[in-house]
Amino acid sequence: MRTAVVSVLLCLWSISFPAQGADSDTGERINRKCALCHAMYGQGVPGDSSPRLAGLPAWYLAKATRDYQTGARKNDLMVAVSDLDNMSREEIEAVSDYLAAQDIGTDPAYNIRFENGDAEVGKRKYEEDCKTCHKKNGYGKKNKDAPPLAGQYPGYLLSSIHTFFRGDRNHDNDPIDDTFDDISDAEARDILAYLATLDDRRIKADYHFQPAPMTPPAATAEASSRAAGGAFRVVSDSQTVVMTDVDPAVDAEDAIKAMVAKAKSLNLSLQPVSSAALDEQEESSKSPMMKVLQFCSPSQAVTLLKASPVLANYGPCSITLYRDEDENIRLMMVNLDMLVDGHQLPPAAQRIAILINQDMLAIMAAGARGGH
Ligand code: HEC
Ligand code: HEC
Repeated sequence: MRTAVVSVLLCLWSISFPAQGADSDTGERINRKCALCHAMYGQGVPGDSSPRLAGLPAWYLAKATRDYQTGARKNDLMVAVSDLDNMSREEIEAVSDYLAAQDIGTDPAYNIRFENGDAEVGKRKYEEDCKTCHKKNGYGKKNKDAPPLAGQYPGYLLSSIHTFFRGDRNHDNDPIDDTFDDISDAEARDILAYLATLDDRRIKADYHFQPAPMTPPAATAEASSRAAGGAFRVVSDSQTVVMTDVDPAVDAEDAIKAMVAKAKSLNLSLQPVSSAALDEQEESSKSPMMKVLQFCSPSQAVTLLKASPVLANYGPCSITLYRDEDENIRLMMVNLDMLVDGHQLPPAAQRIAILINQDMLAIMAAGARGGH
């Protein structure tokens, strides 16, 4: 139920553009939901919370995405925000093809680095224990179902190793796989340091990834039909706003309470910014009402604003609650992802922008359900 009410809808260009390959259009349209957390072209961000999807093979992307759909891998928020439960096999294939084609792996700007281990020691370990499936060059083997490890963020790979070790995810699709039972974190870091050298061989000094210009979705009718089924929408021509409807059984006060509780669990505190009863009368449950809530971590805000002071204009980390005269409640946030182009913000600020997106989505999801 919870996932059924949440999806992203991408609206809406009024001009029509020449038809392009249907699948790549579908893939690009769907990717705008994924981009909320995986960044615009699936480039992800360093650390453990946003793996790079760009350039992974389509077969693996589709398989992994289906694993979240079936519950073999768990990530409730990702499933909810991207409406994965309602995504068809063809749609998953289309977005996987789209992401696989984003060739960022040869761009020096996306070179993976990791200095926190001994690459020489890691090389020996990798060639002994990992190479048979993940390939000598680190880019995986389809006939072993093994994905590339080179070109992926070490923070994410290490956290995956921890999920294997804890038994939360199956390594090698095998519940009794024991690859990581006797690999210490220090040894894993040595392997990661070696893997981080392998993508260097693909880097071309003078190559700069040029994303294809975004094509506006032509399917307005489809966009409206999706509105009925789901609640998260990226609206406005420039994809800058994400919106979700609050469950009709939840009133404004409960939605706010649930958001504040969720924010607290994420170590963010509420800073009320403004509140207005829009008909200028007493706030009664019948009058339109708007509240802007800000959930910032001061240190994150400072890093982001130092990197790009104009971001202050967009009110990062704020969520607007709007209740109309029919008592429908909507939650809205700025999609910081649209401002996070790999070449515009320094990596530390990109990472924070994506983390803020993820936190705001989690808070909105809690508010939309009234905490249930
Ligand atoms: C709310 C944030 C969020 C959204 C939206 C989201 N993801 Fe994710 N995704 C994550 C996080 C966080 C991880 C890594 C941690 C984990 O496995 O839960 C992840 C992991 C993945 C992986 C696994 C990568 C690997 O190397 O195994 C794939 C594939 C993936 N996502 C595909 C998608 C696709 C496709 C979409 C859009 C349809 C999407 N995600 C939307 C947050 C999100
Ligand atoms: C027998 C084959 C095999 C061997 C040997 C093997 N792997 Fe894997 N590995 C796999 C498969 C298959 C997957 C994909 C699992 C899935 O689809 O969820 C995987 C997934 C992973 C992932 C997750 C990647 C991602 O994007 O989420 C990591 C990290 C990993 N392996 C690390 C290692 C390391 C380090 C070694 C050596 C110590 C190793 N593997 C040895 C088969 C293998």
